Amino acid sequence: MPATPSGAKGAVITGWGTALPNKILTNIDLESMMDTDHVWIRDRTGISQRHVGGTTAGLSAESGRAALQMAGVDPADVDALILATTTPDRTVPASSSTVQNLLGLSSCGAFDLNAACSGWVYALVNAHGLIAMGAQTVLVIGTDTLDRITDYTDRNTGILFGNGSGAAVVQACDGPGQMLGWDLDSLGEAESALFAEVGGFLQMEGKEVFRRAVRLMVDSATNAMASAGVAADDIALAVPHQANIRIISASLDRLGIPMERASIVLDRTGNTSSASVPLALAEALDQDRVTDGDLILFVGFGAGMSAASAVVRWSPHATTNSGDTT
Ligand code: COA
Repeated sequence: MPATPSGAKGAVITGWGTALPNKILTNIDLESMMDTDHVWIRDRTGISQRHVGGTTAGLSAESGRAALQMAGVDPADVDALILATTTPDRTVPASSSTVQNLLGLSSCGAFDLNAACSGWVYALVNAHGLIAMGAQTVLVIGTDTLDRITDYTDRNTGILFGNGSGAAVVQACDGPGQMLGWDLDSLGEAESALFAEVGGFLQMEGKEVFRRAVRLMVDSATNAMASAGVAADDIALAVPHQANIRIISASLDRLGIPMERASIVLDRTGNTSSASVPLALAEALDQDRVTDGDLILFVGFGAGMSAASAVVRWSPHATTNSGDTT
């Protein structure tokens, strides 16, 4: 993948927000729904509970509204809404249309982006592309309601997935902006490892997904760091897709990034697909784990099999083109 061109218009993240449905499904709850047990799930995946319920548009509006409020952005000033989701509420129209209406984004482009669990990182890179072409403000949301395509009687898949949403406001700024490098990848030959037919449940070859996921994460993160001209030692915070703690640990180990530098939320959320990276980012930011100048590595992978990574130098106080200091 090409490096971010040095002359491209830069962008910064100026606000973020999250949403999780109220209903929680614990591992103990799952014991009465399938042949499994809490300790096995926790030890083999790192997951203790997940949230279920809600709609993709409803959760998106909640996280998006919070992100706009934090950024101090008037909904009328949003130029584009990108909603990364694998689970739109309807086949037609895109759920982003519903979200645009719910948020009162009066005049903007809105579209869904499906790159499975890599979706939010794909959307973040695309938002930077729109800003390089002249957009001022892009709302990037990642939301999935996987309970609608998960069979909670199937212990092969039913232990892993949950619902959630995370959002970020990305705005044009003076200067080069935050994104130093990126990588988008896809391995269509592996699509049969994880899929759901229209109207059907997720089907998965768990071991195959695990094996390929580690390789995809390592390759994609390595490409993004190379295009950014940085090394693993330089990364202050890794924000990986939250699928399985053992996948994250194996990948970071191969990359040479200590686990203490990773943001982990999957113990409480399970795998929320497009929402997992922004949920983990928001928690790290809310806990003040990131300071100005820190390098953040986003790395996602998912069905497809897709992968996406980006390296960002955190600088939330950059001056946006509107003249505001965020
Ligand atoms: N509860 C209890 N026991 C289970 C179980 C469950 N949910 N699932 C499998 N087991 C048992 C198996 O029957 C097997 O028992 P045996 O040794 O007596 O035969 C044993 O546990 C090991 O099963 P295995 O299938 O080898 O487990 P695993 O270590 O591969 O873990 C996954 C299964 C699904 C957790 C793991 O393969 C995984 O996380 N893969 C990646 C999935 C993923 O991330 N998908 C989303 C990508 S975006």
